[in-house]
Amino acid sequence: MVELEDLDGVGPTTAEKLREAGYDSVESLAVATTGELMEAAELGMRVAVRVINSARDAAKMGYETATEVLERRKHIGRIRTGSASLDRIIGGGIETQALSEVFGEFGSGKSQLAHQLCVNAQLPPEEGGLGGKAIYIDTENTFRPERIEQMARAVGLEPGRVLDNIYVARACTTDHQVLLAGKAADLAKQGDVRLIVVDSLTSLFRTEFCGRGALAERQQRLARHLAELHKLAELHDLAVFVTNQVQARPDVFFGDPTRPVGGHVLGHSATARIYLRKSKANTRVANLVDHPGLPPESATFQIVEAGIRDPD
Ligand code: GTP
Ligand code: MG
Repeated sequence: MVELEDLDGVGPTTAEKLREAGYDSVESLAVATTGELMEAAELGMRVAVRVINSARDAAKMGYETATEVLERRKHIGRIRTGSASLDRIIGGGIETQALSEVFGEFGSGKSQLAHQLCVNAQLPPEEGGLGGKAIYIDTENTFRPERIEQMARAVGLEPGRVLDNIYVARACTTDHQVLLAGKAADLAKQGDVRLIVVDSLTSLFRTEFCGRGALAERQQRLARHLAELHKLAELHDLAVFVTNQVQARPDVFFGDPTRPVGGHVLGHSATARIYLRKSKANTRVANLVDHPGLPPESATFQIVEAGIRDPD
């Protein structure tokens, strides 16, 4: 693992200042801006640029050849959702090396899907998983180990083992949430982690940065958090799955009646965006809203005791 001290322009004093300011990994420096570093660690501009460039090299954020991209993309893995019809519209499951966003109203099934993916990620590849561990960053206190046990049993996995392979952390503030993403990098470096869930990506940002005045800062910080999550997905070949609550807007009669929090920052940053809507009883409708390589289609699934499944 590359330490801050290994970077060009970073001595022990600077490293300490950077860590105090929250830059505790090479990846966090790679997505920082010059102005931020100058302020946070009292660096001159030239040094700040050197540090960022060196961090980008170390985190492999520069150019690579198309051959390398192709080689990397050959390894893209998929985690099935439990519903074949949902899998079909998203190209076979939630992809590694990508960030998938699911958005929808309360109760639309975002957290249920996140739980199911934590279980399915542990299935062997021939059963639709990646035989790996999962990380769950929980900002709303919605993670339920009992629900994991139910879902694990339903797919024939031993519940205790499945729980052991999910690292859960509760985030209380946006700073904490960003920090936990950094810690996830440490876990991911040890291998085996194939999925990182952030449920919800936006709730803390929404409460901490309220009002129009705070919007710019919120978007900026959210963008940086997302960039870091993206990097994790690519560097460690894992799937990042984030949830985002939207409120129905009854005043809008035509077009999309809802608007995801985070607006365009999130829009451009998610690889796949899935919009969930409640339908009758346990049924949910999923719309693939935005995907670089797939058409916008919709699928229906249901939430039952066993988990996410196709409708009867
Ligand atoms: P917010 O976090 O509030 O925005 O909602 P969400 O989109 O995360 O919703 P969540 O995934 O928590 O879905 C909750 C819904 O899932 C409940 O209203 C139930 O309809 C369904 N559900 C949860 N657990 C079970 C279960 O054990 N059996 C069945 N049949 N349905 C369940
Ligand atoms: Mg939820």
